[in-house]
Amino acid sequence: MGLVGSTAIIGTAAWRLGWSSEEAQATSKLNVASKSTFSTTEKQTPYNDVTHYNNFYEFGTDKTDPAKNSQNFRTSPWTVSIEGEVKKPRKFSMDEILKIAPLEERIYRHRCVETWSIVVPWIGFSFSELVKLAEPTPKAKYVAFETYFEPGQMPQAKYSGLDYPYVEGLRLDEAMNPLTLLTVGMYGETLPNQDGAPVRMVVPWKYGYKSIKSIVKIRFVTKEPPTTWNRMAPQEYGFYSNVNPNVDHPRWSQAKERRLGEIFKRNTLMFNGYGDQVASLYSGMDLKKNY
Ligand code: MTE
Repeated sequence: MGLVGSTAIIGTAAWRLGWSSEEAQATSKLNVASKSTFSTTEKQTPYNDVTHYNNFYEFGTDKTDPAKNSQNFRTSPWTVSIEGEVKKPRKFSMDEILKIAPLEERIYRHRCVETWSIVVPWIGFSFSELVKLAEPTPKAKYVAFETYFEPGQMPQAKYSGLDYPYVEGLRLDEAMNPLTLLTVGMYGETLPNQDGAPVRMVVPWKYGYKSIKSIVKIRFVTKEPPTTWNRMAPQEYGFYSNVNPNVDHPRWSQAKERRLGEIFKRNTLMFNGYGDQVASLYSGMDLKKNY
């Protein structure tokens, strides 16, 4: 199971302790070349919380559903197709993705729009490395992402109220920002299925739903692409979805958040604390209108 054979993977499958036998799932150690200066020194959220409190609506809407229902999700073989306004359209196997750039560990804050947050040591490389290989044409202004969808493997999806496949998007300059991480692992290992195996995005200054899981298609496009939560409730979920304590969700405040495992809430930071790196992307924009 998994991605054995890749140069980036060392060792054999590891079964995490603390999971029940029905949940036992193979993950493999990843060979991380470097730590990142983008990493926070904040306390990391325990692995068991990050893998048992999930949003992955294809596998059910309860926080504990993805860990239970994604165990037999087939993530190998896997291909990611690069399409649209690029000079070099192509398909990548997972082995090829793992060789695009040296893997880095990035410890990021992750803030869900529902007001919970976690700190996760992700593994991956800047998405810009993939963009460089694709060579977008001058017409490419946005990047559209799509999650794998197959109702047979995701029978709970039909009760979730969302349209599938799950889709997300970024402006090309947001996608090129060095913080935007094409993510293949966490806590030293490949991603567990419930966290978006085998490859997902992590966009740490945006609400968690922008960090699309289990990607199969990346399309470079001329216009702002549709996004799943915006389609579902446009007045609640905008295209930009930057973490912003000053713009409340229509049904709740975004001023504070609760770290998983903590009792007291903490203040939510503008751009989730990544303003130094990303605020310039939005200069001159009204972030209340462009929520
Ligand atoms: N990607 C897909 N395909 N389906 C989803 O339901 N949920 C999003 C995002 N990516 C989701 C998704 C939301 S709302 C959040 S908060 C994060 O994944 C959660 O990531 P985690 O479960 O690894 O913490």
